[in-house]
Amino acid sequence: MCGIIGIIGKREVAPLLLEGLRRLEYRGYDSAGVATLVGKGIERRRAEGRLDNLAERLEREPLSGKTGIGHTRWATHGRPTERNAHPHATDKVAIVHNGIIENFHELRDELVAKGIRFETDTDTEAVAHLLTVSLNDGATPEQAMADAMDRLRGAFSLAVVFAGQPDLMIGARRGSPLAVGYGDGEMYIGTDALALASLTRRITYLEEDDWVVLSPQGVRIFNQRQPVERPVKETALSGALIGKGNYPHFMLKEICEQPAVIGDTLQSFLNPLTRQVQLPKLPFDFATVPKITIVACGTAYLAGLVAKYWFESVARLPVEVDIASEFRYRAAPMPDGGVTIAISQSGETIDTLAALQYAKSQGQICLAIVNVLESVIARESHAVLQTLAGPEIGVASTKAFTTQLTVLAVLAIAAARARGKLTAEREAQLCAALIATPAKVTEIISQEDAIERVANAVVKARDVLFLGRGSSYPIALEGALKLKEISYIHAEGYAAGEMKHGPIALIDENVPVVVMAPLDEVFDKTASNVEQVEARGGKLVLFSNASGIKRLGGRAVASMALPETDPFTAPILYAIPAQLLAYRVAVMKGTDVDKPRNLAKAVTVE
Ligand code: G6P
Repeated sequence: MCGIIGIIGKREVAPLLLEGLRRLEYRGYDSAGVATLVGKGIERRRAEGRLDNLAERLEREPLSGKTGIGHTRWATHGRPTERNAHPHATDKVAIVHNGIIENFHELRDELVAKGIRFETDTDTEAVAHLLTVSLNDGATPEQAMADAMDRLRGAFSLAVVFAGQPDLMIGARRGSPLAVGYGDGEMYIGTDALALASLTRRITYLEEDDWVVLSPQGVRIFNQRQPVERPVKETALSGALIGKGNYPHFMLKEICEQPAVIGDTLQSFLNPLTRQVQLPKLPFDFATVPKITIVACGTAYLAGLVAKYWFESVARLPVEVDIASEFRYRAAPMPDGGVTIAISQSGETIDTLAALQYAKSQGQICLAIVNVLESVIARESHAVLQTLAGPEIGVASTKAFTTQLTVLAVLAIAAARARGKLTAEREAQLCAALIATPAKVTEIISQEDAIERVANAVVKARDVLFLGRGSSYPIALEGALKLKEISYIHAEGYAAGEMKHGPIALIDENVPVVVMAPLDEVFDKTASNVEQVEARGGKLVLFSNASGIKRLGGRAVASMALPETDPFTAPILYAIPAQLLAYRVAVMKGTDVDKPRNLAKAVTVE
């Protein structure tokens, strides 16, 4: 959600800002804008909708200037119109902002009482006026920012330029990420290293409550008005790494990368020769952990739901999984010595962060499973396990999900061993099943005809039901989530056994019922549910292995045979056709697959 880029440059900056914004598109947005310093003034170009609209605008009305800021906005306060698009400006400052200023009503009332007129419906405009009032009262830009930091409440990252001062830019962060980039006689600021990838690899990640003063010569960083030092890191990201290659969409590229990234993730956590899990040292001992609490949002939450089945059945360790936005406010009692696992691709999701902070306040040991190692969730945790998915750009999570599952599977095996619930032989079997996963994922991805048939059975539907039992239940939820996210078809995931308690009323010849039925210990139960669907004329779409399809697929309108697998790894494999089905249907319907309407990749507001 919302992306920020700022450049103090040696070159014309508008095209560079636009390119940086393109790298932030993946976060989700509905308007965009840039501002540069021109002579003693500030000039802006802003546009509703896609960045192409802003690019056209800049072509018609070019913007000169070597210092500037840019923004992609995901509307929170005020509709996504040009008027509400960032940067917001006064005659003294222009500002871009990610997050929410929670006390903006109070600030606005105070500023209006001073005779200031607001032009937008945004919370951000209050910050522009707050800084301007300080400057008009004689404060330096640094003093104005330090004072603003004391006044602002909420989560935000900001970048500000000052009219007539092309060698100055100030950034600040609280609860939202912000990175500084170092160039050759140029300095940059951006939401993340991705935004800066084509400009530099030398990055400083700002800490909570830091604010930073940039000039062409370098940076000064402050926290609580005191100067602080933050390390400069070399990022591995390059511009090329985050291109689409020959794929039509990032989502397809990321689906196809799964064999490689699952393999990479496995390699960092298990030894293929001994077939044993090898985790880095964790700040707790699974043998004595009374309970695990998993908090996450969206697809990451569904990875947590799969993990519950794994930890409970293999390690006999009780697990509670909760949606972070619910967990954070329900004052859950937490046991002494308990472990909380926060799962997040971005490591930025505000609700997951808040849930983690609550767990910490309750004395829990916190473990983060994140894709972005420098993220705030990683930094707030006592320990981190990284999913090696690489940058995920498609809004609908795919490779992040299966690598989260991979880490969680390995963790469950480690827990089972520590708790004496696993023989060496069974551990070797489970590890072998995991090691075999990348090749099986490749096999599934190559079954294009089968996916096409399944997609044809679904594409015209208004509603689709996904069913699964046991660890396939979260995969049914994920299948429904993926489909609705990118194809806009209404879809619901249900525990197969629960179907009789409601969704069965929906079943008729127009509603495809997609069943995830690996050959596991609950297959026969799922089979009964399939019979119940067929008895009501339901349109069955079946994912199983060859023998499952032989048994149940006779009357299916479409089916797909997945490779044989140990039931333990079935959730990882069955996630793949769910992704491919959603992708194919979305392409058939012509939706914007990588940037579905209203959705954001990193959800940084409540
Ligand atoms: C958004 C994204 C989802 C993602 C969820 C959680 O809704 O569109 O793809 O699963 O946020 O994000 P996180 O970065 O915490 O995994």
